[in-house]
Amino acid sequence: MIFNFNTYLSPVNIAILSRGENLYSTQSLLKAGEDRNHTMEVLNPTFFNLAVENGNAVLYYHDEVVDDLNAVIPRIGASNTFQGTSLVRHFEAAGVTCSVSSEGILNSRDKWTCFQILSRAGIPVPNTVLGGYYDVEILLQKFNNQPIIIKILEGTHGQGVILSESKQNALATVETLQTSGVKFVLQEYIEESKGTDIRAIVVDGVVVAAMKRTCKAGDFRSNLHRGGTSATVQLSYDEERVALKAAKALRLAVCGVDILQSDRGPLVLEVNSTPGLEGIETTTGKNIARSIIGYLERNNR
Ligand SMILES: Nc1ncnc2c1ncn2[C@@H]1O[C@H](COP(=O)(O)OP(=O)(O)O)[C@@H](O)[C@H]1O
Ligand SMILES: [Mg+2]
Repeated sequence: MIFNFNTYLSPVNIAILSRGENLYSTQSLLKAGEDRNHTMEVLNPTFFNLAVENGNAVLYYHDEVVDDLNAVIPRIGASNTFQGTSLVRHFEAAGVTCSVSSEGILNSRDKWTCFQILSRAGIPVPNTVLGGYYDVEILLQKFNNQPIIIKILEGTHGQGVILSESKQNALATVETLQTSGVKFVLQEYIEESKGTDIRAIVVDGVVVAAMKRTCKAGDFRSNLHRGGTSATVQLSYDEERVALKAAKALRLAVCGVDILQSDRGPLVLEVNSTPGLEGIETTTGKNIARSIIGYLERNNR
């Protein structure tokens, strides 16, 4: 048998599933694919119609059948989870290679589900309680009057993360969220991380880039969207190991893992299935988009 080493290197048709054609991340992926001679396009996930016809998954973009794609890069926002993951599942059924699976997106989409999967896999995480279902006072007792973090389950970019320094404030916040029907977690505040965290990008079982983010003065959230700054960082063996374990546990081939440096070692905060590329590429000078295209090339059927 002659093994054709060029099979996965032939140019392929790749679509980026994104509502933001002009976003840095989308443009970076487009360029990385074009540099490899692939046919690249951006398709808006909300413009698809999904059908099952005669037992087969059929996809329409507006009213045109989509059957010529080899691979897709889903960039599904939090506001579009149901339709977005349904679309990715359809591509999976049609045998199209996806840079992230529908299962991986769902595993990481809400912070509590993500936490359950991480802790079950033995990955260190901050002590956390799911709120909203039981007596607030009992929940708060877990934290011995220490400052706590309150987070809504589907927040992003640091929005929906609150540092509550008094029991009175925590109580009022929790009651507000409960009466608004918003789901949240209470979490121990890792004070020693001093407003910094690590963002590690994992592609195909390898940490391809990492940066340390520091919050702006007066904040505790290190998200770049909240005015944080970033610098390259060399991960310790333990940090690298938890990042890789987290990606594996959530079944995400491509993801961003947020890690807090605590006195008891690295703690995983969350895993993002659609990590922004701008901050990490400009900070580290690494071409993450190229790594993602490489993953698709290696896994293209
Ligand atoms: N338990 C915590 N202790 C200390 N800082 C935290 C904690 N949780 C979150 N933070 C800070 O807030 C930021 C945003 O929290 P995160 O859980 O990553 O939510 P988001 O999805 O909004 O990025 C983190 O990057 C970190 O700087
Ligand atoms: Mg985060």
